[in-house]
Amino acid sequence: MEMRRQLGELAPLAAGKSAELPPHREVGQMTVEEAIARRRSVRSFSPEEPGLDAAAQLLWAAQGITSEDGLRAAPSAGARYPLETCLACPYGLFHYEPAKHAVTKAQVEDVRAPLASACFGQTFIADAPLSVIFAAVHERTTSRYGDRGIRYVYMDVGHAAENLHLQAEALGLGSVPVGAFDDDAVAEVLRLPSDQRPIYIVAIGFRARA
Ligand SMILES: Cc1cc2nc3c(=O)[nH]c(=O)nc-3n(C[C@H](O)[C@H](O)[C@H](O)COP(=O)(O)O)c2cc1C
Repeated sequence: MEMRRQLGELAPLAAGKSAELPPHREVGQMTVEEAIARRRSVRSFSPEEPGLDAAAQLLWAAQGITSEDGLRAAPSAGARYPLETCLACPYGLFHYEPAKHAVTKAQVEDVRAPLASACFGQTFIADAPLSVIFAAVHERTTSRYGDRGIRYVYMDVGHAAENLHLQAEALGLGSVPVGAFDDDAVAEVLRLPSDQRPIYIVAIGFRARA
């Protein structure tokens, strides 16, 4: 993907303000088969930042709208869409708004280091230029499916995360899923609303050169 827009464009955005993201693309440099074959968890990242175009493409692949009636890139049990998606980068913490393909700045601070601490000191999270954090509002799914909805929420996030890993690979980026963290500590760092629980984190960036 041609990198025309810098991630740093998000820096001047004030807390609570939104920015429309560059449009997603549906044609890329790599086949889905190549992306599956090449994907490997990466835990050593170059400080080089992916562009805003790449960040936008990743968010779209995870939770973007792909139909006129509002269905998303990843399947969701009963189309209940229990996931809320955040992006942590050097320019703050952002909430993804699928309907507008926009981000809203939730925090102006770079939360990556405290986020790494909340993930039991997995320091690569502080180094990765991007981390996508999925939080769930379980009630959206359990209100229809009862207790069985709990497992559906975790199936949903697996779909969204795999889209993210394969999209990252197709953009020439590496990624790693992170499930080991202190839920309360992550919720505190991200200042999540009380109805949201963090359930999965994906750290993304260019692979460090050996
Ligand atoms: C549910 C889940 C949770 C994971 N949590 C972590 C984690 O907290 N930290 C980490 O470094 N890797 C984590 N991983 C990545 C696995 O260690 C990795 O997928 C596995 O070693 C296989 O390697 P591969 O991804 O390169 O195929 C997690 C993977 C899954 C599926």
